Amino acid sequence: MVNMTVQNMEHIISEATQDFGACETIQDLEQAKARYLGKSGLLTEQLKGLGKLSAEERPAAGAAINVVKQGVEEALRQRREAILHAEQARQLESESIDVTMPARNHGKGGLHPVTMTLNRLEQIFHSIGFAVAEGPEIETDFYNFTALNIPEDHPARAMHDTFYIDDKHVLRTHTSPVQVHYMQNALKDESGPPLKIIAPGRVYRVDSDATHSPMFHQVEGLWVDEDISFANLKGVVQDFLQRFFEREDLEVRFRPSFFPFTEPSAEMDMSWNGGWLEIGGCGMVHPEVFRHVGIDSEKYRGFAFGLGVERLTMLRYGVNDLRLFFNNDMRFLQQFG
Ligand code: FA5
Repeated sequence: MVNMTVQNMEHIISEATQDFGACETIQDLEQAKARYLGKSGLLTEQLKGLGKLSAEERPAAGAAINVVKQGVEEALRQRREAILHAEQARQLESESIDVTMPARNHGKGGLHPVTMTLNRLEQIFHSIGFAVAEGPEIETDFYNFTALNIPEDHPARAMHDTFYIDDKHVLRTHTSPVQVHYMQNALKDESGPPLKIIAPGRVYRVDSDATHSPMFHQVEGLWVDEDISFANLKGVVQDFLQRFFEREDLEVRFRPSFFPFTEPSAEMDMSWNGGWLEIGGCGMVHPEVFRHVGIDSEKYRGFAFGLGVERLTMLRYGVNDLRLFFNNDMRFLQQFG
């Protein structure tokens, strides 16, 4: 331990700097640090050696060791900083956001074409003074048939292929029972007649092909007042259809028909694929229906109609198979978004 000068010990600094430089992690660096500054590290050993020196040599050697120690500590500090910096850079790199990447598509939803038709339809009828009414989808035999002048064993019941819930309850086969509910309620709370409503909603029939579905939508119309005529019916329906399809030259055909709850009755067809597509039934409310609900048929008259909402949608968008509306094929549905 002679010659304990800074010059003689400088190699310790460069050795430590090299050692620290080879460390890639903070843990490695801590181990390397122990080799110099730990309990039995190189510099600690040097300090211990001071005791063996003479009193004259000791202060200079002590000072020299301290200078070297500071050098080692500085090399350690610099390397620690470099490692932390590199780690931070690596982390930033791995977490970086590529702002040029296309945005994740959250699949914005859209309205179903039948819902679009229902909205459009309500808007148009609202503008010609019709209120919107609703009724239950599970009906009693009375509301679905009897009150509409279709008594038990009447052959007209066979016109509707009915889903029965039990002996007395059915899934409504049409929206016409809403007429009955509405007229009864209007009499009860003395809000009418006159009354002027549409009743859109789901209906059910045992029926399935390109133009028939077991569940479909109808919109019922009913206008009851003292001087309502078949001319009003034709006017309202034609006006609605022309506005719905945005065509003044629209071809609508009224074909004489039969419904037990209207007299006279007609079916409405629209030109479609070179032929005609039946879109609904209509007529003047039958006196028997007025009798069932308690409206004086000598004083009041009314017209009613029931339109197939899927059929209107098919015509509006040029869809040739009604079942497409309910297959939930996104490729089909997205075309309406
Ligand atoms: C009726 O349901 C009568 N309630 C309509 C009515 C109301 C007449 C008021 C007079 C007064 P119809 O069974 O024809 O009538 O059905 C009406 C319309 O519903 C049809 O013209 C058709 O457009 C549509 N429709 C009937 N069955 C189906 C079905 N299975 N799938 C899709 N649409 C249907």
